[in-house]
Amino acid sequence: MKKNNPWDERAQAYRDSAPHAAGPDLDLLVEWAGAGAGLTALDVGSGGRHLARRLREVGFAVTTADPSPGMHPDVICHAEELPFPTASFDLVASRLAFHHFSSTELALAEAARVTSGMFLLEDMLYVDERVEEAETLRDPSHGRCYSLDQWGELFSAAGLAIEATEVIDRPISFTAWLERCNCTGETAEKARELLSHRLDGDAYTSTVFLIKGLKTG
Ligand SMILES: C[S@@+](CC[C@H](N)C(=O)[O-])C[C@H]1O[C@@H](n2cnc3c(N)ncnc32)[C@H](O)[C@@H]1O
Repeated sequence: MKKNNPWDERAQAYRDSAPHAAGPDLDLLVEWAGAGAGLTALDVGSGGRHLARRLREVGFAVTTADPSPGMHPDVICHAEELPFPTASFDLVASRLAFHHFSSTELALAEAARVTSGMFLLEDMLYVDERVEEAETLRDPSHGRCYSLDQWGELFSAAGLAIEATEVIDRPISFTAWLERCNCTGETAEKARELLSHRLDGDAYTSTVFLIKGLKTG
């Protein structure tokens, strides 16, 4: 587990972040989740709780789980060790958080364990090593992004079948992206150089993937 948690200081920035609060990616996750009346959901790595808010709007009783107290989750915990019984939620979902987890395999196994059926994942797609390096410079808590083929293997190993996938390019403000993690000076300039192939003025094209997974066991 990571010992230093930078997320408490960033909590307000992520609550206020426009690309986290709305977008076609969030809309698709909610569409895949379906009607939630009478159903429970767990949002893992809930951050500013934007996904949780949208799932509540369609009727789910949502529990938010995040290790950062500053994010005000319902339960303070790590994705790699979820303090919930097996099959205790109708839906488990995680958005833009998995690349921060210390073990993708453990977090995926835990998500598969605590869902009774569906697991919805959105995260950043692996693009290339320049993007990985820039993301880590801007936010040292960035772990690793994976390709869809790698996610296919990870899902299969966790006992999750893939029912649908989608890849979405999200143009976001490069300046706001740096500011959320307080990245300035030479580090910010190096990140700009590394991302030159993904930048158009202040628009940084960040590519995300979404997977609709179903428990097989
Ligand atoms: C970018 S934010 C998530 C955004 C949020 N899901 C949304 O829809 O707006 C990433 C979150 O992952 C959380 N996180 C980092 N390491 C974690 C871990 N090991 N387990 C669970 N959450 C973690 C951070 O505390 C942070 O709140």
